[in-house]
Amino acid sequence: MKKRIMTGLMLACLSILPTMAQWGRPVDYSAGPGLKDAYKDYFTIGVAVNKHNISDPAQIAIIKKQFNSVTAENAWKPGEIHPKEGVWNFGLADSIANFCRENGIKMRGHCLCWHSQFADWMFTDKKGKPVKKEVFYERLRDHIHTVVNRYKDVVYAWDVVNEAMADDGRPFEFVDGKMVPASPYRQSRHFKLCGDEFIAKAFEFAREADPTGVLIYNDYSCVDNGKRERIYNMVKKMKEAGVPIDGIGMQGHYNIYFPEEEQLEKAINRFKEIVNTIHITELDLRTNTESGGQLMFSRGEAKPQAPYIGTLQEDQYARLFKIFRKHKDVIKNVTFWNLSDKDSWLGVNNHPLPFDENFKAKRSLQIIRDFDPVADKRVPKEDFVPNPMNQPGQEYPMVNSEGFARFRVVAPDAKSVIVSLGLGGRGGTVLRKDKDGVWTGTTEGPMDPGFHYYHLTIDGGVFNDPGTHNYFGSCRWESGIEIPAPDQDFYAWRKDIPHGNIQQVNFWSESTGKMQTANVYLPYGYGKLVKGKQERYPVLYLQHGWGENETSWPVQGKAGIIMDNLIADGKIKPFIVVMAYGLTNDFKFGTIGQFTAKEFETLLIDELIPVIEKQFLTKEGKWNRALAGLSMGGMETKLITLRRPEVFGYWGLLSGGQYAPDEIKDPKVVKYIFEGCGDKENPAGINKSVADLKAAGYNAEGLISEGTAHEFLTWRRCLYQMAQSLFK
Ligand code: XIL
Repeated sequence: MKKRIMTGLMLACLSILPTMAQWGRPVDYSAGPGLKDAYKDYFTIGVAVNKHNISDPAQIAIIKKQFNSVTAENAWKPGEIHPKEGVWNFGLADSIANFCRENGIKMRGHCLCWHSQFADWMFTDKKGKPVKKEVFYERLRDHIHTVVNRYKDVVYAWDVVNEAMADDGRPFEFVDGKMVPASPYRQSRHFKLCGDEFIAKAFEFAREADPTGVLIYNDYSCVDNGKRERIYNMVKKMKEAGVPIDGIGMQGHYNIYFPEEEQLEKAINRFKEIVNTIHITELDLRTNTESGGQLMFSRGEAKPQAPYIGTLQEDQYARLFKIFRKHKDVIKNVTFWNLSDKDSWLGVNNHPLPFDENFKAKRSLQIIRDFDPVADKRVPKEDFVPNPMNQPGQEYPMVNSEGFARFRVVAPDAKSVIVSLGLGGRGGTVLRKDKDGVWTGTTEGPMDPGFHYYHLTIDGGVFNDPGTHNYFGSCRWESGIEIPAPDQDFYAWRKDIPHGNIQQVNFWSESTGKMQTANVYLPYGYGKLVKGKQERYPVLYLQHGWGENETSWPVQGKAGIIMDNLIADGKIKPFIVVMAYGLTNDFKFGTIGQFTAKEFETLLIDELIPVIEKQFLTKEGKWNRALAGLSMGGMETKLITLRRPEVFGYWGLLSGGQYAPDEIKDPKVVKYIFEGCGDKENPAGINKSVADLKAAGYNAEGLISEGTAHEFLTWRRCLYQMAQSLFK
């Protein structure tokens, strides 16, 4: 039986916070459909592969599950496959092609003509003298025909020319010792020999060899204003001249801060004017501020990645894919450049991909995969108003009528600002700097109604939002926000009814060697003489959860207001509520199995109850005492009531586990058991437990709170419901 209690406790505590649910429990982010299946109505999903990727069964399994397009990372590049005149290295190139043929995966052919990793022998004759462009074209044509003919059965698109345009930031350049306005073209050997004609020739040769393949011009930094226009102008000019360019490849070597969605969309929309096919050919997101396709970059630092960096990357992947989906009319493929961080050409310490260095899926994979097409189209209603919990005169945070929350933080020199509040499964809401240098952002969707704790993470440091008040949660005073709930009247102040009051009681606790504090709700009329007598009241001892304290129920729990309203509406007879600190905050997660609530039991029964019963007009005995608690306070309630059934006659677990009849053993020891939780928690567990208790002869009641999780609206509702059955 002891074992059963422990397991129940562990489960109860594991549900304390969704994030905590993941502590110590490995999450398999690859569980679910493959990316290719999730995106079947949008575009194909590709990956660049090397030799190892197609040799190791575990990696092969990832490729087959997630991807329906493959690019050879290096094996098909001219310098690799055709290093000398007449010398062909088909070995690895063929094995990648055969792997794809065998597995029914189509390929992107990368690449036929490039300034880097190129067959440079094409530029010189046997004596090392430069050849005429006609000779070069002959060689290039032979190369393209050979490669295309060998693989076109398995290839659906070719990167015919790669990176022929110049980068931004070079308005002038030196040509023959003179400074001249920079050419729009990269000053490659190809360009120097042939001008931009080599581009046209390469596309013509590819078309001759493959009349149906999609022929792509591929480049990096396509979202840069200058480069975008240079690519646009070149492709437009070529197409007008009849060059068979079918589409543009945007490499997509980005980072966690860049590009902005608007900038990316600008490029997509611009290219849409001249092509109806765009491939995102080489996607990866560095965790530093570098970007682009040049081989000059830092390889990251060999240290563990801070969690907020992971959040920024997840958010950036989410934003980019949302834009890709929006433009699915023109985007036909998105390819990740490499399978895992271990393979990445950027080095493992840049952590750029959705699979980590051990080929384990990161949360990014789940976020990219489990998108919500409805949310993609959703625009929040612009009826945001300042949240009632804001500091005086503060406009932000704001909430709209649908429950979206909007934040604004002034931190002009910050690199990143994350609000910990957001839709489930994400690390929060990542704010973006607006044109005035102010960080703003709106939750991706409506938040659950009720109260939420949150904080800001600014460049990895944790801060409160100066716009709103602070509430004790997570063992510290955190920011809080209130999302209007449909039933919010039951915890709203009413001017037309009498109000009780909450007193702070400080007392010396011998067992802890400290002063302790309890907040005591006294109903309206407490202490008044009625017919020469003062009324005495039963007492509910009401506990908070992990990370909270004696202020949590009175402030964010609104326990006093709920009591006032219940009493005024005649739903309950007045009683006292004692909200004390439950010693939960020194508890370390991971030691849940050792949590006994013994210290709190001593404090509560030997110290607090005597103080309360001495100082206040209480009715005594177990039938005038109730013990209830939320979350870890529920665990305390369960442990203490089972050990000391002679002290309390009414028991309540609020998102804090369940009782089983054989743990109690005797229906006469307890007059009423309450168990509740949010419908996003463990409703089945509550329903079953309540049914079992009833069947065993207990007076048990359950409440499943609609549309809420492990948060205070669940517990406000629980208190409202439970209070109506206490002391009857
Ligand atoms: C990279 C490969 O990933 C590296 O292994 C190699 O050393 C250099 O090239 N743009 C491109 C790709 O078009 O072919 C490059 O691939 C990355 C930048």
